Amino acid sequence: MKLAVILLILATTYAYTIVPTLDIDLDGPAKQRFQPAVQLVLNTYGYDASFGAFFSYHNETTFKHLTSKDYAILATSVRTYWPQYAQELEGIVEAFNRSDVTFEYMAAWAYFHEIGHSLSVNIKECTAILLQTKDGIIHGRNMDQSPDAGRLLVIHFKFIKNGQYIGESVDQYWFKTGFVTMFKYGVVSLQENWRYGHYLPLFMLLKKISAGTTSLGWTFRHILDSDINNFDQAVTYLENVIVACSQYNIVAGTKFNQGAIISRDPISTFPTLFFNNTGLGNDQFQYMVQTNYDHWHKDPKGDQRRTIAQNLLANLTSTMQNELGVYSVINTYPIHNEGTFYTAIMNVATGRFNYFGQEGITPFNDLE
Ligand SMILES: *[C@@H]1O[C@H](CO)[C@@H](O)[C@H](O)[C@H]1NC(C)=O
Ligand SMILES: *[C@@H]1O[C@H](CO)[C@@H](O)[C@H](O)[C@H]1NC(C)=O
Ligand SMILES: *[C@@H]1O[C@H](CO)[C@@H](O)[C@H](O)[C@H]1NC(C)=O
Ligand SMILES: *[C@@H]1O[C@H](CO)[C@@H](O)[C@H](O)[C@H]1NC(C)=O
Repeated sequence: MKLAVILLILATTYAYTIVPTLDIDLDGPAKQRFQPAVQLVLNTYGYDASFGAFFSYHNETTFKHLTSKDYAILATSVRTYWPQYAQELEGIVEAFNRSDVTFEYMAAWAYFHEIGHSLSVNIKECTAILLQTKDGIIHGRNMDQSPDAGRLLVIHFKFIKNGQYIGESVDQYWFKTGFVTMFKYGVVSLQENWRYGHYLPLFMLLKKISAGTTSLGWTFRHILDSDINNFDQAVTYLENVIVACSQYNIVAGTKFNQGAIISRDPISTFPTLFFNNTGLGNDQFQYMVQTNYDHWHKDPKGDQRRTIAQNLLANLTSTMQNELGVYSVINTYPIHNEGTFYTAIMNVATGRFNYFGQEGITPFNDLE
């Protein structure tokens, strides 16, 4: 009996989790696009265990200092400059059908990362791996966040435009109508990671948003839904679009050497890292890793994820220079850690978009 319980706990702790799939028709009414996703989560888990717990956690951190005036400014800006996303958010609010989930509150979520940076919220991790192989660039992505309830919000979407599937995403941030993991068929795989850079004070951030600055989750929506149709165009757009917070954008294209780590900041600019300027040399085994610190600095002592991943990648045997190798590295502790919600292994050259939900892992030392 006891053994059965232990085995059950092991099985539930170390299994990957199943992520549901929904279609989003970009030709259909904006208001309805995310309503089935809200209903799916509410019907499966109920509000309190899912969104309720997630919102409550982030209310205590990111949204703690927002006043009703700030919420009103955010809502007006979203309605003024981003009417399509405003309609999507209206639909999401309608699907919640709760007096405590208002349009103003969801407009603040649309700028979740930007507000978090302004208030120096310190809760993010995430890792990106780009591995160049003879079969294209394999892009591994771990999403790390808090609290655990956010795992229940992760959904895989397939996007339809003009009657065709044009891309996919896996994310928990869809309810803010933005995405930090995106795959546009035949064009690029995209990932955003938290960067510690200059912080705009809240009043300056709100001024910037009131002038029509995009949210970082909407830059990938723009790439998906615009005529951007190759790696260079996507990189140029992400290097130049005005941003309201620090961030890394990790991009892989369909051709040889089309991998980029774009470091953005609301004030400073930095050169983009490509495979041809990693310092590894063009004839060498090519890989790049990005966590949450500038690649031109050493990893901080307390967070060696990039160094660990680079050493593992450098030591990959030739039969592992493929999706299996990227999976092995990205699933190693602490690259896969307590906060990991999901993993995606993408290759836009072959059109393969693999994803699964993850449980948090903590190493267990049986000598202690
Ligand atoms: C989160 O904050 C919003 C805005 O203040 C509030 O309406 C809502 O009730 C809060 N939700 C939770 C779950 O704490
Ligand atoms: C919204 O909730 C109320 C109860 O609070 C219910 O009477 C109403 O039918 C719901 N509306 C929709 C569209 O589900
Ligand atoms: C490196 O690759 C990028 C992306 O393909 C390209 O824009 C850039 O010109 C290349 N630089 C050199 C020195 O070849
Ligand atoms: C292989 O990994 C070790 C650390 O385990 C590291 O010191 C070494 O540099 C790596 N090999 C290469 C070729 O980088």
